[in-house]
Amino acid sequence: MKPIGLFYGSTSGMTEKAAQKIKSAFGRHKVDLYNVKDVSQEALQQYDNLIFGTSAWGIGEMQDDWERWIFKVETLDFSGKKVALFGLGDQIKYPESFVDGLGTLYCRLPDKSVVIGEWPLEGYQYYFSLAEKNGKFVGLVLDENNQPDKTDERIKNWVLQLKKEFV
Ligand SMILES: Cc1cc2nc3c(=O)[nH]c(=O)nc-3n(C[C@H](O)[C@H](O)[C@H](O)COP(=O)(O)O)c2cc1C
Repeated sequence: MKPIGLFYGSTSGMTEKAAQKIKSAFGRHKVDLYNVKDVSQEALQQYDNLIFGTSAWGIGEMQDDWERWIFKVETLDFSGKKVALFGLGDQIKYPESFVDGLGTLYCRLPDKSVVIGEWPLEGYQYYFSLAEKNGKFVGLVLDENNQPDKTDERIKNWVLQLKKEFV
């Protein structure tokens, strides 16, 4: 498997913490972490295996730094690349827009065929999520506000799945 570039945006540090855990779950495999707040498009181009992570802010919104950075993803040539997505949200306080940032990030990808790492809906309670598609989430869903005890296990299982799906 080729090296992985993991790009995340994080306002209060929760997505950043999850990014670090995902890196650890890959063990000795090379995973480079980038905060989208201060990184160039060249950093993106060098990886065939990409992971994008965002939290949810307001109805349908990605984390702020992603909102400013997303055009670098929209103009990237995705041929030969695989992309896995993860999102953080709060299903108790925002059950009508749960992990919408993840759903919006997915919508903004110019080529959906590169996306891997879908995740089952079971284990969460909410009314609506933009991140839901064809009976699955478009990527790993974490809720550090209400289910922090489930995060490590979810990451472990998702990473096992990605190890089979990345190039
Ligand atoms: C003002 C505000 C709005 C939020 N809006 C949503 C939302 O619409 N949907 C959701 O699932 N979570 C929402 N959240 C929860 C955050 O996405 C969640 O706490 C996340 O873990 C924060 O991650 P970060 O610190 O990496 O940015 C919101 C939180 C705040 C403070």
